[in-house]
Amino acid sequence: MALAIPTQLPLVVSFLHPLLMWALLGLSLYAMVLGIKAKKTRTGTPEQRKDLIKGQFGKRHFQFGSLLLALMVLGTVGGLAVTYINNGKLFVGPHLLVALGMVSLIAVAAALSPLMQAGNVIARKVHVGLNMLLVTLFLWQALTGMQIVNKLLNPAV
Ligand code: HEM
Ligand code: HEM
Repeated sequence: MALAIPTQLPLVVSFLHPLLMWALLGLSLYAMVLGIKAKKTRTGTPEQRKDLIKGQFGKRHFQFGSLLLALMVLGTVGGLAVTYINNGKLFVGPHLLVALGMVSLIAVAAALSPLMQAGNVIARKVHVGLNMLLVTLFLWQALTGMQIVNKLLNPAV
């Protein structure tokens, strides 16, 4: 049974998703910096470690990473919902496909947390690899996202 959602959302609602996602790009970069510092705390010289431990980077990285995971899932669902309500369909294009890839990457990367906390080296390396790919894809996603924003602002072009 097809869902009947006839009304268009006000244009302003369409900009909530882009705004949230730009904020999330910033949050991803911050989480990345915290993760790199967490690694330094683990692998640095005793002198470096003494200073870095005070920053509690591992704990903060886990907290901000969890926030990023939750907001990325919500932001993606929001993007899908807004697009569907405005157009009566979704557009299976690069922005949608990369979004599904990104949500999968961050879910798997986050699911490795218990293994990483138990000191599993392979889990750590896979986590970092998946998330570096995630951050790279985010840049691409911002590009295709702004192309869609352009289309919303200039529907005739
Ligand atoms: C932008 C996305 C992310 C990046 C670039 C990233 C990167 C990293 C890096 C570089 C490390 C250090 C690995 C090492 O010590 O060798 C790390 C550790 C870790 N990450 Fe992430 N991460 C991201 C997101 C997440 C998310 C979403 C979660 C969970 C919800 C998470 C949980 C953890 C945990 C539990 C550790 C171990 C911390 C510790 O040593 O105490 N990360 N991450
Ligand atoms: C700064 C980055 C981003 C911008 C500027 C942006 C912008 C947009 C815009 C304008 C739309 C169309 C909304 C509408 O039709 O009213 C959209 C749809 C969507 N966005 Fe984003 N977005 C960004 C990042 C992301 C990210 C990181 C994800 C997920 C990981 C994502 C997932 C989606 C999805 C799933 C849709 C629906 C796609 C479709 O059916 O065509 N977006 N985005």
